[in-house]
Amino acid sequence: MTNQYDIPAMGFGTYGRTGEAGIAAMLVALEVGYRHLDTAQDYGTETEVGETVKRSGLRRSEVFVTTKIKTGNFGKGMLVPSLRQSCDNLQVDQLDLTLIHWPSPNEEIPLEVYIEQLAEAHALGLTRLVGVSNFTIALIEQAKTVLGEVPISNNQFELNPLLQNRKLANYCLSSGISVTCYLPIARGVLGGEPVISQIADRHGATPEQVALAFEFAKGYIAIPTSGKAERIRSNFEATKLRLSSEDIVAIEGVDRGQREINPGWGPAWD
Ligand SMILES: NC(=O)c1ccc[n+]([C@@H]2O[C@H](COP(=O)([O-])OP(=O)(O)OC[C@H]3O[C@@H](n4cnc5c(N)ncnc54)[C@H](OP(=O)(O)O)[C@@H]3O)[C@@H](O)[C@H]2O)c1
Repeated sequence: MTNQYDIPAMGFGTYGRTGEAGIAAMLVALEVGYRHLDTAQDYGTETEVGETVKRSGLRRSEVFVTTKIKTGNFGKGMLVPSLRQSCDNLQVDQLDLTLIHWPSPNEEIPLEVYIEQLAEAHALGLTRLVGVSNFTIALIEQAKTVLGEVPISNNQFELNPLLQNRKLANYCLSSGISVTCYLPIARGVLGGEPVISQIADRHGATPEQVALAFEFAKGYIAIPTSGKAERIRSNFEATKLRLSSEDIVAIEGVDRGQREINPGWGPAWD
């Protein structure tokens, strides 16, 4: 399952997957079939991702790797060297996808300053695709004018059945911007939602598999994580689960607009 940019719909989040335990979890992920690893300059897991791909024996081209530029690297002349460092950490010549992790807090650094540098990184071949994370519709529109011909191929933001972020997701898909859901399994709390657990029981699936299958049915990418082999495996099995149109409608009804990641300096959400 990949999209128009060849991004595998099932990815593995690497926040918290540090050290040997992190590498062990990522190796399980690659073994069970994940082919997309999501890291960030801020996670401290780029080195682990690079080491995992190397130890896995897979070819570089077989694993889609995303990193995100931290806001501390937005200043003039800083972004490109920081991405070269990310490439070194990851033991790659080129990222598959590089995202701006967050818009600059309180607009301290003007958007043009860091988006222009993202375009420069793309022109230098340091990344095949560019995108954003935690961007609103208005910020994406501004970024588009700076990027010109270079497409924004992805926006990564919080999305799961409890927070469906429909306005932003619909805008992205209709503009050719793929959507990556972070917190796609709402950190494991979905079993407490009766509609989801009933659908899960009917399919002999877990609530997390139902959430992921819902996101795939919508055409989104999802990047769940776990430190536990059994969960890494069972989450991946969601790629085989097909929900009915009645299931989808029922899940649409559980949206509570409940955002977990909401820093005070974040943009006003759509
Ligand atoms: N762009 C951004 O600003 C941003 C922000 C947040 C996250 N992210 C990305 O999104 C990824 C995922 O986000 P996340 O880790 O916060 O949320 P998540 O994937 O929704 O949830 C992960 C949590 O759920 C538990 N879990 C995993 N599988 C489970 C299962 N089958 N049943 C019950 N519990 C389960 C895990 O615990 P165990 O380890 O104990 O299994 C872990 O605590 C991150 O790793 C990161 O790559 C991006």
